[in-house]
Amino acid sequence: MSDIETPQISRGLEGIYIAESRICKVNGAEGRLYYRGYPIEALVKNSSFEETTFLLLNGKLPTRAELDDITRQLADARDLPQGVVRIISEMSGKAESMDILRTATSALSAYDAETADMSPAANFRKSIRIISRMSSIVATIGRMRAGGSYINPDKALGHVENFMLMLNGKAPDKQALDIMKDMFVIHAEHSSNASTFGTMVAGSTLSDIYSAITAGISVLKGPLHGGADEAALKMMKQIGDPSNTESYIESALAGKQRIMGFGHRVYKAYDPRAKVLKEYLLSLQEHSSEEVRRYTAIALRAEKMMIEKLSASHGIWPNVDFFAGPVYVAAGIPVNLFTPIFAASRSAGWCAHMLEYWKDNRLFRPLEKYTGQIDLEYVPIEKRQ
Ligand code: ACO
Repeated sequence: MSDIETPQISRGLEGIYIAESRICKVNGAEGRLYYRGYPIEALVKNSSFEETTFLLLNGKLPTRAELDDITRQLADARDLPQGVVRIISEMSGKAESMDILRTATSALSAYDAETADMSPAANFRKSIRIISRMSSIVATIGRMRAGGSYINPDKALGHVENFMLMLNGKAPDKQALDIMKDMFVIHAEHSSNASTFGTMVAGSTLSDIYSAITAGISVLKGPLHGGADEAALKMMKQIGDPSNTESYIESALAGKQRIMGFGHRVYKAYDPRAKVLKEYLLSLQEHSSEEVRRYTAIALRAEKMMIEKLSASHGIWPNVDFFAGPVYVAAGIPVNLFTPIFAASRSAGWCAHMLEYWKDNRLFRPLEKYTGQIDLEYVPIEKRQ
């Protein structure tokens, strides 16, 4: 393209297809989501994180033997290298949870003999280790933030139950475990969103999978993406009493503020994940604390108002991050772990995309339209004004 041509700029890559993929379909117009062809609602209801991980990585639901095998592989990989535990401990109290997760995940590469091996088989094995260990890292971050120390994983437990054990030092109650099992499936994949694209950009240079996943974590952290779950709950905390909801939203919108947990680049209908979480929250009502009931009341009032005000004019509906906070609170999860848990679950999708993309890799290298000057005369420093 010559300089005098006027290129079409797609800000934020909106509407641009970057690859073909068989992993995930987001139907934004109708608010439908499929992992490998299976509707998210069916997976949340029937599947486990281990099974969903197998599905995402392999493209089909596992047989019993295959499920047992991936369950064992994930369980075998859980224990963290001491060096990584030391990094988490050193950063605890000084850095945000996502910063600790990003650094600790990157550091895992130092303890993996296959880091530089780019064969498909090695990348698959590393994917399993990453998916398994990111949950151990997140649990350990939470544990250390609460003043505790590293809890050894228990191979006899399922992935999510072990996560809860490593986080709390004890087995979870049934309600908390059920919630977290669903959260891990719901967050496991979402096509080429910003963090998956970030992962793929890093991976497309034929860097290694640890670098790619570390990039994904970095991208997920921001409040316009994965960080919105924490931000939405903080807003509910700030609103305080449900009766303040409408005035809060009114003045935030008047001040051109974004209401976190609403809006989506692709969904112009109700995000199906938010629908599942809303129903979940409503079903928990009588079994939840006063705090959760209060957040639920605020969330429902905010949802009603936002839909009335912005759904028709701007196609803005609740996204996955809006109801996630109160659901996590019902499972006893502290706010600073919301986004790290999202990342630990999403590692399955990130790895699936990397394994798929590397089969037919092409370096990502978009263009930008240069609007600055050219051929300026270099002026020595002593002559500059
Ligand atoms: N609250 C109020 N207004 C909003 C919101 C919101 N949450 N989201 C979008 N808008 C408005 C914008 O102000 C803009 O209005 P205008 O046309 O009158 O100027 C219009 O809707 C379009 O907004 P864009 O920023 O162009 O839409 P984009 O596709 O870039 O935004 C995004 C998507 C970033 C998610 C946006 O909706 C947002 O900031 N939401 C809040 C953060 C959030 O919840 N992120 C999580 C998304 S889900 C996930 O990543 C896991």
